[in-house]
Amino acid sequence: MSNVLVVVYSLSGTSRRVAELLCSQQGWRLASITDAQPRRGVWGNVRCVADSLLRRRPQILYDGPPPIGFDAVVLVSPIWAQRLAGPMRSFVAERRAALPDMAVVSVMGGRGAPNAVAEIAQLTGRAPVLATAVTMREVDEGSHGARLQAFGTAVDQARADAPALRPVTLSPRNA
Ligand SMILES: Cc1cc2nc3c(=O)[nH]c(=O)nc-3n(C[C@H](O)[C@H](O)[C@H](O)COP(=O)(O)O)c2cc1C
Repeated sequence: MSNVLVVVYSLSGTSRRVAELLCSQQGWRLASITDAQPRRGVWGNVRCVADSLLRRRPQILYDGPPPIGFDAVVLVSPIWAQRLAGPMRSFVAERRAALPDMAVVSVMGGRGAPNAVAEIAQLTGRAPVLATAVTMREVDEGSHGARLQAFGTAVDQARADAPALRPVTLSPRNA
């Protein structure tokens, strides 16, 4: 099994439930990002939106091992104002040089996941190897488990395939 670290930021708990399920399905380790300045009530939500609109990088705390020791990281984050949640933006920006291959799970009401994936690619200069999205509703209903399992298997497979693909990718004829 691949050596994969799942890094989650979650304000109201839904992304955390998704990340915990993925870890329990795959036997992967979980790491957490939290806000240095907690977001509470209406003003907390206003800050979320402002962080997204202004692409701010709020101060965060990270509780987990250094990602560089893993084959891949799966970033699990909510969508705010159709963009990547600010604390995950901070994490990706701060650690971009030390992040291995990335996969992304966006957790949302229904819109904005492609923007988050594009922003991660832009911040790191590398496209995530895989991305998926689940809605809050799917998580509440419990209907996301099979898709998450398939996603985890695909991440695992992408890692297993990596050595075989690399020589082809790096071949001058394919450059
Ligand atoms: C301030 C704020 C803005 C949001 N904006 C969007 C949005 O643009 N698109 C969307 O699909 N969901 C949006 N949502 C919904 C969240 O992405 C969704 O509730 C997610 O499950 C929250 O994850 P969490 O419980 O891990 O914090 C927003 C939520 C908040 C609090």
